[in-house]
Amino acid sequence: MRFRNTWEDATVIHTEQVAANVMQIQIAPNGGTERFSVGSHIDVSVLINGHPEIRSYSLVGQYRTSSPYKIAVKRLPASRGGSEYMWRLKEGNKLRISQPTNHFELNFTAPDYLLIAGGIGITPILGMAKQLAAQASRKVQMLYLGVSKKEMPYVEELKNLLKDRLTIHYSDEQGLYDTAQILKLVNDQTLVYLCGPLGLMNAVRKTWEESSFDNQNLRFETFGASGLFAPQAFTLNIPRFQKELQVKKNQTILSALEESGIEVMYDCKKGECGLCQIDIISYTGAIDHRDFFFTEEEKGENKKMCACVSRVANGNLTIDTAYRGK
Ligand code: FES
Repeated sequence: MRFRNTWEDATVIHTEQVAANVMQIQIAPNGGTERFSVGSHIDVSVLINGHPEIRSYSLVGQYRTSSPYKIAVKRLPASRGGSEYMWRLKEGNKLRISQPTNHFELNFTAPDYLLIAGGIGITPILGMAKQLAAQASRKVQMLYLGVSKKEMPYVEELKNLLKDRLTIHYSDEQGLYDTAQILKLVNDQTLVYLCGPLGLMNAVRKTWEESSFDNQNLRFETFGASGLFAPQAFTLNIPRFQKELQVKKNQTILSALEESGIEVMYDCKKGECGLCQIDIISYTGAIDHRDFFFTEEEKGENKKMCACVSRVANGNLTIDTAYRGK
């Protein structure tokens, strides 16, 4: 049961591999592109195991009149199927996409900005870097973290744009980035925009929360919702409906519930809005909370979880789907 979104037909205009595991895809809506602000994303209807699913992709770069939307998709080994579907797209293929929406809007009131991109988290950040770099009155620095150079798209473009304001960190050569370093790059007025994998996001948030800086000055967007465990299949019990379901390795609890005819409210499907939350009655193994809606304390209680992204690892799960608010 999804809310909002205006959907339209679109055509794949061009695909191009821009890093070892990243495909850039240009998509033109049949009715023409909408003006969008940096940080926006579109939803794409994808077919996974024959079932329609929705995946969200940030729009890369800035809006240009009459130019197609540009997204970049990382091929994930533990993919739930979305990235494989997108990688199979070819020029001329038809798609259903939503109009752009922005949940990660750049606020232009600060004098100082630090942009942090981890891996494919570069996609919303690239447009922000371009827009801020074009404004002489604003100071912008950027930190781009990735596993290796060959897996990081847009590096040369960013080097040309930001020059010494760009720090690149390759973990295969330099080891894990120490997030405490971030605090040396900011001051009381710096707005930080962060997009990256769960481990990086958690580490930066922890560093920030333990610092003296205002929590409001750290803004972030999730992607993919990777967890602490590799996805595994598990058994899901729902006593209210007297059902026992098998959640496949590449399937979410939300899609298993929908497939079996159990309706759950949802919106973002990215672990951000909390609308899909379910009550945990019991579990074995470990709950792999992959959302950014619940606080760390709430996650530790293991009473609720987001059905769109979170799962159980090394065990099974019994839940209630009744939505009762946070
Ligand atoms: S649908 Fe938004 S958190 Fe699950």
